Amino acid sequence: MLAVKQLAAAYGKIQVLHGIDLQVQEGEIVAIIGSNGAGKSTTLKSILGELKPTAGAVEFLGDAITGCAVSGVIKKGIAIVPEGRQIFPHLTVWENLLMGGYMNYFRNRKEVIERAEEMLDLFPRLKERLKVKAGTVSGGEQQMAAVGRALMSRPKLLMLDEPTLGLAPNIVDNLFTIIADLNQKGLTVLLVEQKAYRALEVSHRTYAIETGKVVVEGKSADLLGDSYVKEVYLGQVS
Ligand SMILES: Nc1ncnc2c1ncn2[C@@H]1O[C@H](COP(=O)(O)OP(=O)(O)O)[C@@H](O)[C@H]1O
Ligand SMILES: [Mg+2]
Repeated sequence: MLAVKQLAAAYGKIQVLHGIDLQVQEGEIVAIIGSNGAGKSTTLKSILGELKPTAGAVEFLGDAITGCAVSGVIKKGIAIVPEGRQIFPHLTVWENLLMGGYMNYFRNRKEVIERAEEMLDLFPRLKERLKVKAGTVSGGEQQMAAVGRALMSRPKLLMLDEPTLGLAPNIVDNLFTIIADLNQKGLTVLLVEQKAYRALEVSHRTYAIETGKVVVEGKSADLLGDSYVKEVYLGQVS
């Protein structure tokens, strides 16, 4: 579904990604782990078109999307839950959901509203929070609103950038259950996560990125037992 080939990216003159190769097959949950500053968010931004790659290619469903505008990439079926959620704090939870459908809102308001209502079936907790300013709801509720907003465009591939950051452990469980459920229903997922153990548990395959390069890749179940991964990412001495 997604093929990232020798992707390179820079901020100004500072090269941050040095030839990333990764693939996501339809139906998979693929995780990207790696330490702070490794280039995980930059990889997602380069896929989404927020950052123009300096080299390499991104293909989605067989089409080159390298350097396409973000709106075009979203139309093709990729959505992102960005790092830090980035909900609109002064808009209500309901308005935040609608924002995910803004590209269609003026053309087909009814469809956008129906889709937002579907998001409430998915996240029933949000029903009681609809009219509340999103900046005042709990971190977990904000994350649900952010996931719901991303799903408004009916993506085929959902990318999540450290969705569990700052969430209590039981909320993290809840979020991973939701991600696994969505995957069961056919959504393909690319998950950036610093909590390596949780990422390996929830995903089918994992890539570890360090200083802009893939250093480890494999089936997540295998990596859970890999001595290098255990030592470097899981903090276990083997
Ligand atoms: N907007 C930016 N301008 C300049 N450098 C940046 C910017 N964003 C990230 N970087 C740098 O790029 C590198 C990779 O960052 P990032 O992709 O955010 O890492 P990660 O998401 O893995 O923590 C880091 O060294 C970071 O300091
Ligand atoms: Mg990041």
